[in-house]
Amino acid sequence: MTEMEKIKKEIEAYLPRIIESRDIPGRLGEAMCYALSGRGKRLRPFLFLKTLEIYSPPLEKAIPFAWGLEAIHTYSLVHDDLPIMDDDDYRRGRLTTHRVYGEANALLVGDGLFTLGCELMNSVNDAFCFERMQKALAVVLKAVGPEGMVGGQYLDLKGEGLDLNLSQLEEIHRKKTGALITASLLSGGILGGAAERELGSLEKYGQELGLLFQITDDLLDLEGDPRKTGKSGHKDAILGKATYPGLMGIEGARKKAEEKCQGAIYAAKTLGEKGRVFRELAEFVLSRDM
Ligand code: IPE
Ligand code: IPE
Ligand code: MG
Ligand code: MG
Ligand code: MG
Repeated sequence: MTEMEKIKKEIEAYLPRIIESRDIPGRLGEAMCYALSGRGKRLRPFLFLKTLEIYSPPLEKAIPFAWGLEAIHTYSLVHDDLPIMDDDDYRRGRLTTHRVYGEANALLVGDGLFTLGCELMNSVNDAFCFERMQKALAVVLKAVGPEGMVGGQYLDLKGEGLDLNLSQLEEIHRKKTGALITASLLSGGILGGAAERELGSLEKYGQELGLLFQITDDLLDLEGDPRKTGKSGHKDAILGKATYPGLMGIEGARKKAEEKCQGAIYAAKTLGEKGRVFRELAEFVLSRDM
């Protein structure tokens, strides 16, 4: 997707500035850089910047905020891969952070990325009005906390080996993955000054896209090509995770993904011409192979 690749390139150019200029001891900074780099899709920064762009270009002033979202997402991946969670050896096309730097360091990398992520988001406060900044930060922090991503990760682990029903599974996916995706859109809209009605459409779009994203993640775990996903694959079955293909079969999960894609496209339509990029993105997520 060319638009996504363009933003990816632009924001990745900023990567060295995030860690290298800071006084981070020993190999901690190197390990944080390792986790942040690699073949990440940068979906959350993309959603944030594309939403902000609708209402308030230019975007340069907001790039640290976008990296804040990516740093928080990356912390969740580093912790997710730890042996006490999903015990994964590969991520973003190479060994996981704990496999290279050790488990204790990976734990601290996650802590460092979370707190640095908050600092980066807050660092753009001169460029936006105080009320918008405060609201955008509150939306992101709530989304990644115990009521959102952290709560979803808890439920995901607690659900291992259990026969969950569809609404329990949806709650896990909505919290562990959908919440930050939705908050990335909403924070862009809030900082840009979107109207309440538009924020409602962005939220609906984010909820549909978030579920679509995790359903396709579950499908890719089963049938994806590790050379493209950059992950080991077949982990969900080994760990007895609740997934859409596990609950409704591969065809059922694909159908559900199509439904969510249509739901996302419908929500994006209510944004009018401004929402075109989001309609294309939903189709990209539906057919993604990485
Ligand atoms: C993987 O996220 C974890 C989920 C929330 C499903 P991504 O698939 O966005 O991972 P990267 O950032 O591209 O590595
Ligand atoms: C991870 O879900 C969600 C978060 C990291 C918050 P998964 O465990 O399915 O993600 P992958 O498949 O390891 O990327
Ligand atoms: Mg997991
Ligand atoms: Mg995992
Ligand atoms: Mg997965």
